[in-house]
Amino acid sequence: MASLVLGIDSSTQSTKALLVDADDGTVVSEASAAHPDGTAVDPRAWLDACDTAAGPLLERADAVAVGGQQHGMVALDAGGEPVHDAILWNDTRSAAAATDLIAEIGGPEACARAVGSVLVASFTSTKLRWLRDHEPDAAGRVERVLLPHDYVSWHLTGRQADPFTDRGDASGTGYFSTVDDAWRPELAESALGRAVELPRLVAPGSVAHADGVVIAGGTGDNMAAALGMGLEPGDVLVSIGTSGVASAVVTDPVADPTGTITGFADATGGYLPMATTMNAARILDLQARLLDVDHAELARLALAAPSGAHGLTVLPYYDGERTPNRPTATGTWSGLTTSTTREDVARAAVEALLCSLADAVDHLRAYSGGRVGRVLMIGGAARNAAVRALAPAILGSPVHVPPDRQYVALGAARQAAWALHGGDAPPDWPRPGIDVLTADPTPDVRETYARLRDRTTAWI
Ligand code: XUL
Repeated sequence: MASLVLGIDSSTQSTKALLVDADDGTVVSEASAAHPDGTAVDPRAWLDACDTAAGPLLERADAVAVGGQQHGMVALDAGGEPVHDAILWNDTRSAAAATDLIAEIGGPEACARAVGSVLVASFTSTKLRWLRDHEPDAAGRVERVLLPHDYVSWHLTGRQADPFTDRGDASGTGYFSTVDDAWRPELAESALGRAVELPRLVAPGSVAHADGVVIAGGTGDNMAAALGMGLEPGDVLVSIGTSGVASAVVTDPVADPTGTITGFADATGGYLPMATTMNAARILDLQARLLDVDHAELARLALAAPSGAHGLTVLPYYDGERTPNRPTATGTWSGLTTSTTREDVARAAVEALLCSLADAVDHLRAYSGGRVGRVLMIGGAARNAAVRALAPAILGSPVHVPPDRQYVALGAARQAAWALHGGDAPPDWPRPGIDVLTADPTPDVRETYARLRDRTTAWI
């Protein structure tokens, strides 16, 4: 009988688990369980969700790996219990701490050289500094800091092994050198004001723990998505989930001193430069809620309005933004008149989401000297009919859409299969068939959006 491997995606909103055939990645069974809302949550809720969604499937698996939301701070005391809610990647309270830490490291360029990225509020080290400054009692009890996926993996071992992580997720902490492939524990210590234990680094494709079932190192959700997609050099992966991400796989370390591109490591030994937006699928969630419609009706309304929504433009930085780095921003609507229709409002929201993602893709394109081949689009919002219709027009290129799958969980499963069977590279699973979407470009929509974006810089 073929081996089965379990991939777990512990994301911002839920845990998704996929049991797949280790030989070819065919999905055998799947389950999910919701996480609590908010940008700071009790991380023990993720363990409950993992037990609910993955528990029954785990009994059938020969190997397992966890892909998790990047960056979140899981700060634990000597008994392994959280000293504070986990502060997540999309919580901007540590924006000032990011500025301070960059200065302490020697400025943006030195910071990018030291850890591969210029810190923003998402990075774990900035959250440790916030804890030191605002919750000193809790900070004084921290013995160990984990990332969300490490915490869930540790739970899967029954806490029988020391916690572990991988280079991909480690590269989002602000205390890992992507050039040396090693922790910089002194940076974690100076962020928190005391030395902390960091998880063991598990090499790509290695077994982290084996006790009946093989547990692989796991990784960050974006690294897992790249693995699940089988992303190839030259591809740009646009993922529209709670965050919006444009990422690419490259062979050399990345250090962008402007901070626009974060230079993460990937889960195979390469690197994953990325531009990330904090507002993505939730732009559509908000609009559907305000119009009191479901997502299918939102798409229908959007497609019934003309391109440009009769001059209505949205800058969708609702919960602060990271690309561009405006942690205190809120949303801005421009061009509302008494003739504005529900269709215009829906259209403007979809155009805003895609313009914001197009900015992220452009940054990645500029960084890679324009060497961009296919643009691939995945994620929950990639199912929306209006997003699919308008994406090639606003991104200005054909958009390749693979079948609707849980690519983070699939990538985690592929990592588990790699650890189970060994070898120098992840198993070669068949690539999914891909739809290619095309449309005439609408540069005027992006120009209007860019004017609003640049005009509002002065307001922040
Ligand atoms: C990437 C980032 C987000 C989270 C979402 O830097 O912060 O994409 O990983 O889960």
